[in-house]
Amino acid sequence: MDGNQPQWKEQGLPMNFRDIHIPVLKERTLSLFAPALDTRAAVVIDATVGMGGHAESILRRFPDVHLIGLDRDQQALAIAAKRLVEFESRIRLVHAVYDEIQPVWRETGWSRPLGILFDLGVSSLHLDSVDRGFSYAHDAPLDMRMNAQDSLTAAAILAGYDEAHLRRIFETYGEEKLSARYARAIIAERVVRPIERSGHLVTILQAATPAALMNSGHPAKRVFQALRIEVNSELAVLERAIPEAIELLALNGRIVVMSYQSLEDKIVRENFLDVLSATCRQGFLSYLSITCPSCDC
Ligand SMILES: C[S@@+](CC[C@H](N)C(=O)[O-])C[C@H]1O[C@@H](n2cnc3c(N)ncnc32)[C@H](O)[C@@H]1O
Repeated sequence: MDGNQPQWKEQGLPMNFRDIHIPVLKERTLSLFAPALDTRAAVVIDATVGMGGHAESILRRFPDVHLIGLDRDQQALAIAAKRLVEFESRIRLVHAVYDEIQPVWRETGWSRPLGILFDLGVSSLHLDSVDRGFSYAHDAPLDMRMNAQDSLTAAAILAGYDEAHLRRIFETYGEEKLSARYARAIIAERVVRPIERSGHLVTILQAATPAALMNSGHPAKRVFQALRIEVNSELAVLERAIPEAIELLALNGRIVVMSYQSLEDKIVRENFLDVLSATCRQGFLSYLSITCPSCDC
């Protein structure tokens, strides 16, 4: 948690955030929360408040709700603060990583949350901010930190990790079949010239990709995902955060998690099943609903 949180409030962000960000699955999220939030004044924690799209829709739909919004990205928080200014008396925005959900909540002195939302991963802000290095489509410094105060960058990983370590993160976090080839190519290139820009990395990966595989998706896609996950310790943080959130939730509350890739999805499902089966053994009744956004099954 960041004790100096007002920093992000000072950042001037001229963009029209309502145009740049429409929340994914807005109506679905509201309807999943409705049974817990419709009838009483409740606290909601948006653990990934981002540019405040979901937070805004929750605050509008449930006029008695108080919302705590967390994000590790100060730029996103600055946008959320502007977007949510009309709800100022009902919100607290905190610069924090979501595995700090319990201390952040405790500090507000508010009642236990009846709703907790995780909308995982990067935001369009990250992908569209060319200079932050998240996108393989634009040449930029290989940064990829969601929190600019963190020390590890993608360039530092490419400069410092040995071949086996690079291969492992490409395999594990990118599920990349060409991990060994790509790790080898990176090690060979960095002796010649440091790999500090996304354009340079894309060129290395393209050169290391067999011609027959050039048309099966962009060769850099999985490596960029793996680097981003490693830079931000995304999976380890999620692994800690889900049980913390379940423990924090008030009786009859609801947790909604949107995950967009299989590694996150696995962690979420396994943690819910673990915690809920342990809870059921103690005699409580729990419901677990897993839905697929693409078909709403
Ligand atoms: C998909 S976006 C959320 C968009 C948001 N629901 C909205 O409607 O604007 C994910 C956000 O979560 C943040 N984030 C990712 N991992 C985080 C973590 N471990 N702790 C806190 N925030 C995180 C990112 O910085 C990003 O702003």
